[in-house]
Amino acid sequence: MRLDIFSHPHISKEPKENYYALNNPATLQTIAYIKKTNKEELEEMCKRASLAQTKWASELVEKRSDILYKFYELILEYKEDLAQIMTLEQGKVLAESRGEILYAASFVKWFSQIIRGVCGDVLLSKKENENLIVLKEPIGVCAAITPWNFPSSMITRKMAPALASGCAMVLKSASQTPLSAYALELLAQKAGIPKDLFVVVNGNAEEISDVFAKSSIIRKLSFTGSTEIGKKLYAKSAESVKKLSLELGGNAPLIVFNDADIEVAIEGIMASKFRNSGQTCVCANRIYAQSGIYEELCKRLALKISSLKVGNGMEEGVNQGPLIDEKALKKVEDHIEDALSKGAKVLSGGKRHSLGGNFYEPTLLVDVNEKMLVAKEETFGPLAPIFKFESEEEAIERANNTEFGLASYFFTQDYKRQWRVARALEYGMVGINTGIISNEVAPFGGVKQSGLGREGSKYGIEEYLEIKYLCMSL
Ligand code: SIN
Repeated sequence: MRLDIFSHPHISKEPKENYYALNNPATLQTIAYIKKTNKEELEEMCKRASLAQTKWASELVEKRSDILYKFYELILEYKEDLAQIMTLEQGKVLAESRGEILYAASFVKWFSQIIRGVCGDVLLSKKENENLIVLKEPIGVCAAITPWNFPSSMITRKMAPALASGCAMVLKSASQTPLSAYALELLAQKAGIPKDLFVVVNGNAEEISDVFAKSSIIRKLSFTGSTEIGKKLYAKSAESVKKLSLELGGNAPLIVFNDADIEVAIEGIMASKFRNSGQTCVCANRIYAQSGIYEELCKRLALKISSLKVGNGMEEGVNQGPLIDEKALKKVEDHIEDALSKGAKVLSGGKRHSLGGNFYEPTLLVDVNEKMLVAKEETFGPLAPIFKFESEEEAIERANNTEFGLASYFFTQDYKRQWRVARALEYGMVGINTGIISNEVAPFGGVKQSGLGREGSKYGIEEYLEIKYLCMSL
């Protein structure tokens, strides 16, 4: 490996006081020890970030853009190292890690370019000799808390627009995947991003989020994670009236109508459901199949699912890695147990994998209904439950019957239905005849309890800019 991750002062090969052990979820072996930053150290980092931000914001946009572009090029240059680090600490298979590094890099490239087009406005005044001018300015020092399921791309989706806009970012990575975050920090510095402008920390989550939420230096907090934690951060941030972006949980429905192309639907389900072993906020969580296609779909999906190869993501040919930890396995197990006790049947999988550890068999459940936990909660694991429905109205009603509204999907070849259903689904994102919707160009985010704000796209930059209005009497 060319990237020496152990050169980062927060990472050690040996156990140390105030460092925690980081384990590989595939082998359960310790791979590194990570520093736990305390409250005082974090407050000091925020102050230094504030000084660095003032200087950075005064740089020409072209300079900020060029440095970010250099960072993008370095991510590509170190793609293989970054992918291996990700698989080691997160478990996803190497091909998916490589894909995620490209996805992470795409946000850096996108925002290095988008910032060049950001501009204010000159408004027409009602008075003579008056100019009304709108400026866009960086918010200031931002904080971010990122999840373990996408250890690199959820970082760049936040830090790239922040830095492009002239903000600083202090970021707490997931405790399970700190190496990917520190590796990006090392590359950012190599690209010329000032040392205190983008800093990564780990440690006590409660203490760190308290500092972020209450600090008057931190002007914005961006969080990706569970709705439960997001609500707590929302409440804590009220005290300092902080600007928030929250990308929270989902409970994505995926509807297959009788008139769908079944091959396309199966491909979409496999991609959406089993990406990252089902540990994705936008994973199909509830699959609704219309009665005319239900039997055939279940039969063919069972075959596909049973052909998935489970194992250590570092091994050739494996396409399902381990789950992140024992808690994640337990949730899948609980959902299956609950569904079986209420009448569901297993068509494929259904138990812990013979490999042991954090491995679970990709599972297909049929005869599923709304009384089961799988209908109400995000499983966040390799479990595909199939519900049967009769009419379009019924499918829409059942798909919308949740407090979440992140992603949704449906499959139909009827173009009129495509518009009708897309408009009726109460979700921030809708995939039509596809199970993969994420990219840097499109706005990622949800409605209802799935969050606030949008990431990526031309809309994502606005989350890091404030509007200032100048009223100029001539
Ligand atoms: C997530 O699971 O939070 C992000 C997934 C994506 O960007 O596609």
